[in-house]
Amino acid sequence: MRIRRAMFQSVHVAPEGEAEALILGVFQDKRVAPEVFPEAFPTLQAALARRECTGEKENLVETFYLKEDREIRILLLGLGQPGALRPGDFRNLAAVAGRRLAQARICTVHVALGPQVREAGLDMNACGRAFGEGTGLLAWKGDAFRGSATKPETPDPLTLIVPDDTFRAGVEYGLRLASAVNLARDLSQTPPNIATPLWIAERAEQMAQQSGLHCRVLQGEELKAERMEGLLHVGRASANPPCLIRLEYRPEKGTTRPPVVFVGKTITYDTGGLSIKSRENMVGMKRDKDGGCAVLGVMQAVSTLIRPDFPVVGLLAAAENSIGAASMRSDDVITYRNGVTVEITNTDAEGRLVLADALCWACEIEKPALIVDLATLTGGVVVALGSVYAGLFCEDVSLLARLERAAEVSGERVWRLPLHAEYRELMKSPVADLVNSNPGRKAHPIQGAVFLTHFVERKIPWAHIDIAGVHAVDADRGPFIKGPTGYGVRLLAELVHGLQKEDLWQD
Ligand code: BES
Ligand code: MN
Ligand code: ZN
Repeated sequence: MRIRRAMFQSVHVAPEGEAEALILGVFQDKRVAPEVFPEAFPTLQAALARRECTGEKENLVETFYLKEDREIRILLLGLGQPGALRPGDFRNLAAVAGRRLAQARICTVHVALGPQVREAGLDMNACGRAFGEGTGLLAWKGDAFRGSATKPETPDPLTLIVPDDTFRAGVEYGLRLASAVNLARDLSQTPPNIATPLWIAERAEQMAQQSGLHCRVLQGEELKAERMEGLLHVGRASANPPCLIRLEYRPEKGTTRPPVVFVGKTITYDTGGLSIKSRENMVGMKRDKDGGCAVLGVMQAVSTLIRPDFPVVGLLAAAENSIGAASMRSDDVITYRNGVTVEITNTDAEGRLVLADALCWACEIEKPALIVDLATLTGGVVVALGSVYAGLFCEDVSLLARLERAAEVSGERVWRLPLHAEYRELMKSPVADLVNSNPGRKAHPIQGAVFLTHFVERKIPWAHIDIAGVHAVDADRGPFIKGPTGYGVRLLAELVHGLQKEDLWQD
């Protein structure tokens, strides 16, 4: 087996310099003005005339020309029709070009897409940003656990030479955002024997220190004193105790404004508990922490890149859903700090149990302007939406609109699912207020969302995003390789960015 080498060791940006390769955009009409590249014009004409060169979106053809005694590689990157090109397309375009560059072991490339961006009438910064995101996401390594038997060789660093100032600023932003996404992906990739709840807390503390965030970890007696019953109950059987991780960004100027709060399901491993998963369904459950990993990633982006003038808080509800003599059982009843009682009917519906603690805390302690939670909550959302859209639940029209806008800009898609009051019937318990799972098969993703509504104060705008279908991909796709996508970092970063831009949101 050939072990895939990571694409690039690192990615850098420069305004000028010598390059071994050149990326040129080609629209479907295959017109390239002679002045774009006079020395190579005849070579270009010949390459454009080839049948394989279609100019369709993501079509890629290479040609070479001699500059003095050096061979320069030209990547002719298809852009489709000018009217059909969107800034978000530059994510996948960067990935197509980047994969080829990595294969050819190119270290310096001149990115000359400006003229086509201008011709299509697109926002130069937005296109650059998507290009930077695509390249940065492609550069994720994910091979930290390769040992001496398969360790691939170290890849080369890549420098993007981008002469256009606006496009280059976009590329730089995109690369930094991608590195926050890649942090989330590194955590997701870490196996559950290493990535325990307290290990995640240490990573959070480390990131907070580097990024200027405040970090607090509630564990042990403190968790008990704060009545984090869901975390304590889910984590009971594990040798790795649960914790609630709180990250806070405070604007430099100081503020009295209420924070935006992000909550992440951080189950470091989900065996299902006594309602044990089948062997096939258990594999990959190290990624049941991906909601929390994305919250950690977005907090890094908030404090190092976006720096809004309102506070942002991230809450990670971290526990391992293990099996042992101390396991929670079906039939157990727990009482939350807001007084709501829950009868456990399925120990595999654990995510909602830990999220409930964090949502109670968010409403009561943080007094937030809005809450968004990210969770790999249900297999049902995978059945419903596959890996194309995350399931979004939100009854607040303005938060809904903001999230849908952020999804469009970031390319992290959301599809709204209903939260009609009639679904509440499904979660009624004969002995407690709620069951954690209805024994029937109805509306699984909605059951999870309905359950959570009992832990969020009505007047607080709140959205629940079920990412079970989108947090990882099972084959290479766009800028991703098989594995974690870090879904949610870019979506929530763009939400914060959007709020910051809005006048309404200002003091
Ligand atoms: N972590 C799983 C959901 C999941 C499934 C995430 C597949 C990623 C991929 C969750 O805790 C779970 O087990 N959900 C159950 C809920 C059921 C027991 C009510 C499910 O969806 O089957
Ligand atoms: Mn589960
Ligand atoms: Zn789970």
